[in-house]
Amino acid sequence: MDLTRRRFLAAPVALTGGLSLLAALEAHASPLPDLSTWDAVRAQFSLDPAWAHFASFFIASHPAPVRDAIETWRRAMDRDPFQVIESGMFEEESKNVPLKVQTAIAHYIGGRAEDVALTRSTTEGLALIYHGLPLRAGDEVVVTTHDHYSHHESIRLANERSGATMRKIKLYDDAKDATVDSLVSNLLAGIGPKTRVVGLTWVHSSTGMRLPIREMAKALKARHPDVLLVMDGVHGIGAVDETIATMGPDYIAAGTHKWMFAPRGTGMLWANADGWGRLRPVVPNFTEWESYTAWTEDRAPNGPTNAARVAPGGFHAFEHQWAMSAAFEMHEAMGRKRVADRIAELNTRIKQQLAGHAKIHVHTPQSPALSAGLVAFEIDGMKPEDVVKRLREEKIVASTSPYAVVYARLAGSLVNTPEEVDRAAQAVVRLAG
Ligand SMILES: Cc1ncc(COP(=O)(O)O)c(C=O)c1O
Repeated sequence: MDLTRRRFLAAPVALTGGLSLLAALEAHASPLPDLSTWDAVRAQFSLDPAWAHFASFFIASHPAPVRDAIETWRRAMDRDPFQVIESGMFEEESKNVPLKVQTAIAHYIGGRAEDVALTRSTTEGLALIYHGLPLRAGDEVVVTTHDHYSHHESIRLANERSGATMRKIKLYDDAKDATVDSLVSNLLAGIGPKTRVVGLTWVHSSTGMRLPIREMAKALKARHPDVLLVMDGVHGIGAVDETIATMGPDYIAAGTHKWMFAPRGTGMLWANADGWGRLRPVVPNFTEWESYTAWTEDRAPNGPTNAARVAPGGFHAFEHQWAMSAAFEMHEAMGRKRVADRIAELNTRIKQQLAGHAKIHVHTPQSPALSAGLVAFEIDGMKPEDVVKRLREEKIVASTSPYAVVYARLAGSLVNTPEEVDRAAQAVVRLAG
């Protein structure tokens, strides 16, 4: 494995104020606070307590372990930016900081560190995949009507260059009526003779639908083994109990600054070695030795593309990127299943209280297997933006879905209590009259 630009310094690793880089990285990892109760978890956030926050999935509030990790790195970088960043990035593998971060992510998603590329968002990851795939005129990318702007636009922009086309298929009319079988069969019915790539979103931020990705990937690959599957995983990672790298998609892009609570401006991209090998890098990387050597020798890099070659280079907000591992370690300490169960419990509680009201239409499936942390709904006779405004008057932060068809959304997360859930749900019921 030669992921890093190895630079064996004659002098010992740069020390800043007596703090080695690795020690700085590990300072945040030990000890993690007590996370054994949900009150203890909630206490890690410095959210304004005057408000009930039901839009935390939009962008994370950093919990204390993440704030501490960012602050540790920031202080070190402000004291000695050159030495800290130079040795953190280009030091031998055992001390390479991005590789430590990739290792923490890999452990959480059930994959290999060398298959993880660090990005700044879901959007960046999707753009790198679709621009990197060797598509040409005559090829078709099938995506669904339920995907985010960033997904559709990544395909459109890439297709403008390659000449490939995009076709959007519908997986359901109303998410609440969808079943695993209907989702699988609508996907298969949407594949045509020219289809080379399919794009899916694990959890739809339009409706709250969580697609049964394992079943869909299995059915797709059984019938069309050569069709590649790309997944936007942003509202699943940190909210669903899954070993994400084993779910079946060939490419997974996810921001980690939503449900994972990693620093704002961070994300990850995963593929296996074959998946990476197929991609053409778009942005020059800063960490792969072979790319750098090839450049100094005025030749193209040898060997197949790998994650390190696709990870965008340039200097970044490293105090944020290098603090990502704190969020993954926090999630591991809370327990992936325990977190997912809590999120399911809170959102089921919202759905149950909105169900059965004649004027409230919940579009998210009731089944926890087909939903995650988002509840999308409408109130007869009220615009979704007015629902959000009225809730704000009651100090409840809700949101609307940024799609052609707009719904109001409440998202129960680890920052909420069951009592807050009841307050928000009852406020919606009162609005409906
Ligand atoms: C489904 C989905 N994909 C992508 C994004 C964009 O995420 P990011 O900020 O990580 O690019 C969003 C934003 O909320 C989203 O809901």
